[in-house]
Amino acid sequence: MRGGGGSTTATAFLNRRLRQIGITTVGSVKIKLLLCCCIVFTLIFLTGRASLSAEWNEYTPPLDPSGSPRKGYAILMNTWKRNDLLKQSISHYASCPGLDSIHIVWSEPDPPPDSLIRFLNNVLWSKSKDGHKIELKFDINEEDSLNNRFKEIKNLKQDAVFSIDDDVIFPCSSVDFAFNVWRSAPDTMVGFVPRMHWVDKSKGNGDQFIYGGWWSVWWTGTYSMVLSKAAFFHKKYLRLYTEDMPASIREYTAKNRNCEDIAMSFLVANATGAPPIWVKGKIFEIGSTGISSLGGHNEKRTQCVNRFVAEYGQMPLVSTSVKAVDSRSTWSW
Ligand SMILES: *[C@@H]1O[C@H](CO)[C@@H](O)[C@H](O)[C@H]1NC(C)=O
Repeated sequence: MRGGGGSTTATAFLNRRLRQIGITTVGSVKIKLLLCCCIVFTLIFLTGRASLSAEWNEYTPPLDPSGSPRKGYAILMNTWKRNDLLKQSISHYASCPGLDSIHIVWSEPDPPPDSLIRFLNNVLWSKSKDGHKIELKFDINEEDSLNNRFKEIKNLKQDAVFSIDDDVIFPCSSVDFAFNVWRSAPDTMVGFVPRMHWVDKSKGNGDQFIYGGWWSVWWTGTYSMVLSKAAFFHKKYLRLYTEDMPASIREYTAKNRNCEDIAMSFLVANATGAPPIWVKGKIFEIGSTGISSLGGHNEKRTQCVNRFVAEYGQMPLVSTSVKAVDSRSTWSW
């Protein structure tokens, strides 16, 4: 009896065990099926996206509907005694599709060395495609002034100027996107590096302001300037900066060696009465010796803002929280 009972329990145990195994196998089959479905859907989704974006990449809309030669943008690059950075960033931007010419603002006592000019010309030659040659020019300045970067470029064929420092690099896709945003609003400044201002309630009667850096923009989601270290604007603003803007502002930026970018933001805001446009873009800093990493930077910038407000007789900057993003790179809408 005991033996039989033992065998019954053993069979019951075996049956249970088998059922369990059965269940677990069914369970793992289900999970595997689910996983397969996930993978298949992901693949379908990705290939769909890829072929769609390939189609769209193949279809590059004509930049100029009148059929006249293509009109891209000019790079206006500010550099100072950092030839290795200059070589690196020019080599990068030379492969961007919309680029038509490069103007390097040179403010050093010695002219650019032949080896540098030869290197850059070789780079541009190797990157030129189907007869499209990128022009390269050095704008050589006698004196070293921050205002040099906004001197008018004579006979510039392009309307769009992409003003950029030699120590920041943006992927061509980001630059292209910003260029497209600019083309839909050519009077506006369109850039990657936003900054803001707000009323200093502790001083004055609402006529004193504080300059806010990246963290303030990040915290509030608001901005009123984009810095010319990485921004598109119309070439007409170069002439306005050098000829129409009050000379006292140029003297101030030259003397303090700061704030030429804020002055440009004021100029464009005063001309348009509208805020700039911040575009989303990946940024790669290749040098780390910018003045913004030094202490006391924001106090100096605050002084600039208040000085310029006094020159204009009012605050021309307009705040906004609009940010332009490429809808192809977002997952939902
Ligand atoms: C600001 O814009 C107004 C209107 O366009 C213009 O008359 C004025 O001269 C500008 N101010 C400065 C300081 O450039």
